[in-house]
Amino acid sequence: MSSSPAQRLKVEPAQAPLHGELRLPGDKSIAHRALILAALATGESTVAGLPDGEDVASTRRVLQGMGVEILEDGPGVLRIEGVEIGGLRPGPAPLDCGNSGTSVRLLAGAVAQGEGTFVFTGDVSLSRRPMERIAAPLRAMGVQVEPGPGGGLPLQVSGPVRQALDHTCPVASAQVKSAVLLAGLAAPGRTIFRAPAASRNHTERMLRSMGWPVEESEEGRVVSLVGQAGILRPLDLKVPGDPSSAAFHLVAASLLPGSELNLEGVLANRGRLSFLDWLVRMGAPVEARNESDAAGEPVATLRASFAGGLSAVEIHAGALPSVIDEVPILAVAAAHAEGTTVFRGAGELRHKESDRLQAVIDLLGTAGIAAHAEGDDLFVEGEPGLRERAPTGTYEARGDHRLAMAATVLALTTGGGEVSGAESIAVSYPAFVSDLSRLGAQLEAHGS
Ligand code: S3P
Repeated sequence: MSSSPAQRLKVEPAQAPLHGELRLPGDKSIAHRALILAALATGESTVAGLPDGEDVASTRRVLQGMGVEILEDGPGVLRIEGVEIGGLRPGPAPLDCGNSGTSVRLLAGAVAQGEGTFVFTGDVSLSRRPMERIAAPLRAMGVQVEPGPGGGLPLQVSGPVRQALDHTCPVASAQVKSAVLLAGLAAPGRTIFRAPAASRNHTERMLRSMGWPVEESEEGRVVSLVGQAGILRPLDLKVPGDPSSAAFHLVAASLLPGSELNLEGVLANRGRLSFLDWLVRMGAPVEARNESDAAGEPVATLRASFAGGLSAVEIHAGALPSVIDEVPILAVAAAHAEGTTVFRGAGELRHKESDRLQAVIDLLGTAGIAAHAEGDDLFVEGEPGLRERAPTGTYEARGDHRLAMAATVLALTTGGGEVSGAESIAVSYPAFVSDLSRLGAQLEAHGS
């Protein structure tokens, strides 16, 4: 859910290819971490290329609410004065994280380092999301943690952390992993996080770039660090473009004849580009080129052009965490593909900004595409003639930014339609509509 006024987006069926180049907003996951870790550093950090979405603004606002000094040094450039590990203190008001799960879960780990009682709140959607997954390990580290009555928000956290932990987490969640590692920075001894599959590793990479060793084994399923082992050096970082935002344009281009796109300066961390590998397997000519490096993370230009037909794939459960945010748009690609695409072990989607598993099924259903869940597996029965059949309809975004953008691409590549709840796009990518229009799409936003 966004704090912006309700908006409907009218989408015309594409009459022309998508063409051009775009610079995407900075990666949301890296931006949250850069702000939080800069606040925990010793000295002043500079972070450029921050995205202007509401989620990252929530992290910034909450840090400022805890007395962290953040100065604007130009558009998207911030200077952050670190308060050091254990230095965050509660302010006078609850810490409102808006719609942002990454803000509340990572910050809960960060505030656990020191003294004080911190209360996190958020919007209706965030308040319903499960917090016990971070509460349990933090409690085992000696922190008092109390989620709200339904297991969500308000979440109360009282540090300081007293002991390190060897934690086996039933879900492969980067947010839980990061919460445990952040608390572990202030715990005596080695904190170990074990998960059934690897998840995005930006916290680990950024900590290393700030001088704090983080060990990784079993292909990223086990991560550990030793707490109370020094200081975090300040960051000087330019946040690369967000691949999860790029995915919407790339899929649209692969579905529209004659399209050709270049998206420069995008984060190319392999764990975040898995969706590209799956699109290639489906037959889409997408690629990452000209890799360079920025603050411990690879950066590349992503290119896509028309595929001339896609075929179904089966994404296995071990690979699902690395495409977790791209499932809605991959499901749109799957709707156009020959055969049945299967997303195995996609149950975590039920706990995102909406019940994304059901929401994806309903979204595709509006276009007459059969999709269903069996347990945690999602099945999408593709229809290669979908563009010609040109279904149209009103797609309901359910306050979920990724659904709103996936629905826009679905409408664009079929018979057009309306996306209601399009204001949610501002959570991660406020310029999505203008960027897609610049590439050639015809879109019109209305208040509702
Ligand atoms: C994120 C981790 C993922 C992802 C979210 C961002 C992060 O959540 O869905 O959009 O920045 O750590 P989980 O870790 O809960 O899977």
